[in-house]
Amino acid sequence: MKSFNLCLLGFGNVNRTLVELLRLKSAELKERYGIAWRVTGVASRRLGWWANADGFEIDGLVKTRSSSAFAELSGQECPLPTDWLRAAHADVLFEATSLNVENGQPAVDHIRAALEYGAHAITANKGPIVHAYRELRDLATERGKQFLFESTVMDGIPIFSLFRNTLPAIEVKGFKGILNSTTNVILTAMEQGLGFDDALRQAQRLGVAETDATYDIEGWDAAVKVAALVNVVMGVRLLPQDVNRQGICQLTGEEVRAARAAGQPYKLVCRAQRTTVAVSASVRPEQLPLTDPMALVTGTSSIIQFETDIFPKLTITEENPGLYATAYGMLADFIHAAGL
Ligand SMILES: NC(=O)c1ccc[n+]([C@@H]2O[C@H](COP(=O)([O-])OP(=O)(O)OC[C@H]3O[C@@H](n4cnc5c(N)ncnc54)[C@H](OP(=O)(O)O)[C@@H]3O)[C@@H](O)[C@H]2O)c1
Repeated sequence: MKSFNLCLLGFGNVNRTLVELLRLKSAELKERYGIAWRVTGVASRRLGWWANADGFEIDGLVKTRSSSAFAELSGQECPLPTDWLRAAHADVLFEATSLNVENGQPAVDHIRAALEYGAHAITANKGPIVHAYRELRDLATERGKQFLFESTVMDGIPIFSLFRNTLPAIEVKGFKGILNSTTNVILTAMEQGLGFDDALRQAQRLGVAETDATYDIEGWDAAVKVAALVNVVMGVRLLPQDVNRQGICQLTGEEVRAARAAGQPYKLVCRAQRTTVAVSASVRPEQLPLTDPMALVTGTSSIIQFETDIFPKLTITEENPGLYATAYGMLADFIHAAGL
């Protein structure tokens, strides 16, 4: 049995659900994988940086909403992230803070600090992938640790691990897909008669919208996912700012309903294609014929179709994932890291 001290950076939807999932799978982790765990660090902007090297009591932890509650759980407040990692004797950092499209900070610095300290780093946050993938990957290799990020695109569906572990020596020529749940929920709700604001509130209630929902509706979240995929599975440097991007803000309810009635529904479509010199990439609303599998993807579902040199069309669809799907990606990354 190997025991791991887990540190949670960001204590919102994703990391709180991860704690629930770890609890649900605790017996299986022990019996099947020989993995024991305890949460020794929790941090967020408002809560501060809290450590308890003996492990926080989990029933109390899931109820905490204020920093005073951590003191009651025998937490020690740490002034700096590096002190926090040390006080928590961190083995694994689960980074799930809000997306910073411009430069991926401060998540990039936090992941770098964890790897330099000697912990594995697992993130659900796309920012560090598009802004520092190569640096963090190389640092992890140098330190003999894992830097994993399965939950960043299509929740916990295996995409990065699919290419890393099961499709060696394959060339990805391009891909297309629907990768942003919030805009898909909004478009589906608008087709059903809701106005834009009510449709957005529906996505926020489901917990799928970014902390700042303008990232979703202006197409930034989708552009960041495209850039993450291009960087990792196509091996080409591309920033979100390089993606030809248009969001869904300019679409009216009438246009969306008319398009659906005509059998050509609007979808926020992501595309990337290898060219002779680099990769061209776009995110924009497109009307799709009902014969296109992307047209059938509604609500929080998503789809991606890869074009590779071996498989001309390799399609992965994910139907109505919840937060457990995202947390599962992090759990799967943890089991993978723990096994090395
Ligand atoms: N929700 C999903 O379905 C989903 C799916 C895949 C990936 N993701 C990604 O996972 C990440 C977290 O999503 P979420 O839904 O859990 O968001 P959330 O509920 O808004 O939680 C974000 C957490 O990050 C903390 N945070 C933000 N900036 C910080 C900073 N500079 N330093 C320390 N803590 C900071 C927040 O702290 P305070 O509350 O104290 O401000 C909060 O605890 C995002 O990057 C998102 O893109 C989410």
